[in-house]
Amino acid sequence: MQVRVLPDARAVAVAAADLVEETVRRHPAAVLGLATGSTPLGLYDELVRRHAAGLDLSRTRCFLLDEYVGLPADHPERYRAVIARELTDRVGIPPAQVHAPPADAGDLPAACRAYEAAMATAGGVDLQVLGLGVDGHIAFNMPGSDPAAGTRLVELSEQTLRDNARFFGGDVAAVPRRAVSQGLETITRARRLLLLATGPEKARAARDAVVGPWSPQVPSSALRSHPATVVLADAAAGALLPAWFTAPEGRRRSA
Ligand code: GLP
Repeated sequence: MQVRVLPDARAVAVAAADLVEETVRRHPAAVLGLATGSTPLGLYDELVRRHAAGLDLSRTRCFLLDEYVGLPADHPERYRAVIARELTDRVGIPPAQVHAPPADAGDLPAACRAYEAAMATAGGVDLQVLGLGVDGHIAFNMPGSDPAAGTRLVELSEQTLRDNARFFGGDVAAVPRRAVSQGLETITRARRLLLLATGPEKARAARDAVVGPWSPQVPSSALRSHPATVVLADAAAGALLPAWFTAPEGRRRSA
């Protein structure tokens, strides 16, 4: 795990965009794993800027981490709609190249298996962008999730319902209680993982991800078993990390 604590959220967005750009320059039809939530928005804005400056993202294929169950197809908070609005439509990635977990399928287990198969057929995810829930969740893998689980139907925790109410006019009752989420096993199959954490409310979760117990109660700890995980935190989210992570360049250590 390579951990970098950067001065602010803007620096996190720029460093994250550097990794996406490096991936796409090496492989123009790269498979990108995309996260929703507020943390990656700075990265997505930075990619829009680089796209305007000539970075071609139009051949990338994208797979979302999760999708709410029970929202109408045209609801603006469906993650499919969110990612189109925040990134893919803005950088010219055709909708046919953007895939979301199957929230409306009649036979959900079969549709989840088909989603995993589509990821494999695309060649697997080259770079997976991840945010971090305040309780340490990754995608919608809540504390206690089976680290060996694949894409499946999940129940959201009360904490997550409260956290995500801000996207539904502050109304906790309007947040879907269920979602389809890639599992930790699915996520850790990506060739490279990029975990972003910004703001003081993520400080505990960032510490637990990097140096907390290796436990299903800390879903993000599963990322430590991956050989190519990069963690980018701003100073606020990195505040509880051991001091060596904030040491000057060259004297930093990896977890
Ligand atoms: C949601 C998403 C996660 C995201 C998390 C954190 O629950 N399913 O993928 O990482 O929220 O969101 P935010 O970045 O808004 O804090």
